[in-house]
Amino acid sequence: MAVREVRKIGDPVLRESAAAVDIAAVATADFARLVDDMVETMHAEGGIGIAAPQIGESVRVAVIAIDPASSRYPGMTGFPLTLFINPRISVVDPTEQGFWEGCLSVPNLRGYVFRPRGIRVEFLDGSGRPRSLHAEGFLATVLQHELDHLDGVLFVDRVRDTTKLTTIENYARYWASTASAPTDI
Ligand code: NI
Repeated sequence: MAVREVRKIGDPVLRESAAAVDIAAVATADFARLVDDMVETMHAEGGIGIAAPQIGESVRVAVIAIDPASSRYPGMTGFPLTLFINPRISVVDPTEQGFWEGCLSVPNLRGYVFRPRGIRVEFLDGSGRPRSLHAEGFLATVLQHELDHLDGVLFVDRVRDTTKLTTIENYARYWASTASAPTDI
């Protein structure tokens, strides 16, 4: 296992449409190493999710883990460490909701992003078995942010009101009391 370099905005790998994982590859040592590196890097960077392109691997794999005990994200609903292979999202509730978002690949920036409120995600788990889950609220935003990375999309692309782009310092100074907590997804 290793903490890998997090690729930052401007790196072309973040703008590629990532390749689907061949199910036969899921059981290989190389794949296990990729997942281990993603988890270790996510934890080292203090994120609650990471997608493979963020460590330079253009494949459709993402990991999400929200620890409600983390002082970095007080008050958040927890979500156990979950591996998403070849995920596909469908919107089940298109009502828009807005959250402040940040990203390990977009240093020192927050933006206010509207996304659909309810989604369903179909994916393969770490054993290659099909799974699905329904998500609403903040978790739905986290999943959409994370899976956007697999299509080369960053949260800044979805910020409609660019006057609500802010540094972390200015988020705390001017915006923190106005809406939901930010997060690095
Ligand atoms: Ni991100």
